[in-house]
Amino acid sequence: MRPGFSYWIFMAQMLDQMIATPAANDPMVPSLFRIERAKHETDDTFSLELSPANGSVGFSFEPGQFNMLYVFGVGEVPISISGDPSTFPGLEHTTRVVGAVTKAMGSLKRGDMIGVRGPFGSHWPVAEMTGRDFVIIAGGIGLAPLRPALYALTKQRDRFRKIVLLYGARAPEDILYRRELERWRGKFDLEIQVTVDRASAGWRGNVGVVTTLIGRSPFDPSNAVALVCGPELMMRFAVLELLKRGVPADRTYVSMERNMKCAVGFCGHCQYGPAFICKDGPVFRFDRIAPIFGKTEV
Ligand SMILES: Cc1cc2nc3c(=O)[nH]c(=O)nc-3n(C[C@H](O)[C@H](O)[C@H](O)COP(=O)(O)OP(=O)(O)OC[C@H]3O[C@@H](n4cnc5c(N)ncnc54)[C@H](O)[C@@H]3O)c2cc1C
Ligand code: FES
Repeated sequence: MRPGFSYWIFMAQMLDQMIATPAANDPMVPSLFRIERAKHETDDTFSLELSPANGSVGFSFEPGQFNMLYVFGVGEVPISISGDPSTFPGLEHTTRVVGAVTKAMGSLKRGDMIGVRGPFGSHWPVAEMTGRDFVIIAGGIGLAPLRPALYALTKQRDRFRKIVLLYGARAPEDILYRRELERWRGKFDLEIQVTVDRASAGWRGNVGVVTTLIGRSPFDPSNAVALVCGPELMMRFAVLELLKRGVPADRTYVSMERNMKCAVGFCGHCQYGPAFICKDGPVFRFDRIAPIFGKTEV
């Protein structure tokens, strides 16, 4: 049956409200954002750069936070903010296609609209860690939520000591943000090591899982803060290696994922032991979740 006149009136009112209402007023109402740029990153991963449809610039976020992105008529999913916290408008998200919503999101083009609720959740501790070494360990799409932390660290480079990024991808063609990594690697004050699980022709870099880089990378464990994001298994081994190197659990941070619906601590979908990942996480200090970390469902 085709929708009637009253349906279209309702939709028009809803869109009107979304344009007029900043997400900050009601965390359950998405704000309307326009896609300014859709960028193909790898075969299954893309980035969308968004700006608010009402032109407002009242949006700020901390590195590690996420938004709920709503693809109209398909559904809503949590996606971390992957852009530079200091350059809004130009809100960026990098998404890997895994199912219905991410697939539909991947077919959106410049000029299309998307709903945004957020930002939500805890963040990577950057501002409060002056004088520390940073070791940032990313696996696959896990580099996306860590990228804003790298921007924040490099913007205030002289506040921190060593900054090391260890990044593992499945294969060379899956490496995200290649040009940016090259640019960062060219700077003398950042140490960047990339490894792939499977090399292909022409790859002359490291081969092996990212955790193999931890033991020989140049940071001072007695002073370092570790930020880790990637598949849970990878994070588990990364934390073990970090502990072995001497980075304490209370200076190690991991970002967790679970299914989400409300993103504001109401529905219980993202319960993780005594915590909700949407509001107590996604970034957790490792010692606080150590007893439940690695259990398949808690
Ligand atoms: C806080 C948070 C931040 C996130 N940030 C990002 C991000 O920056 N970029 C990004 O690409 N994704 C991110 N995700 C994961 C993303 O939300 C899911 O991939 C998305 O919800 C899948 O929705 P879908 O409808 O496309 O697939 P679904 O139909 O929900 O799932 C399709 C298949 O993929 C599997 N699947 C679902 N989620 C994941 C996952 N996280 N990893 C691997 N397989 C999965 C399902 O088990 C199922 O088999 C984040 C998740 C959380 C909780
Ligand atoms: S998603 Fe509803 S409580 Fe976290």
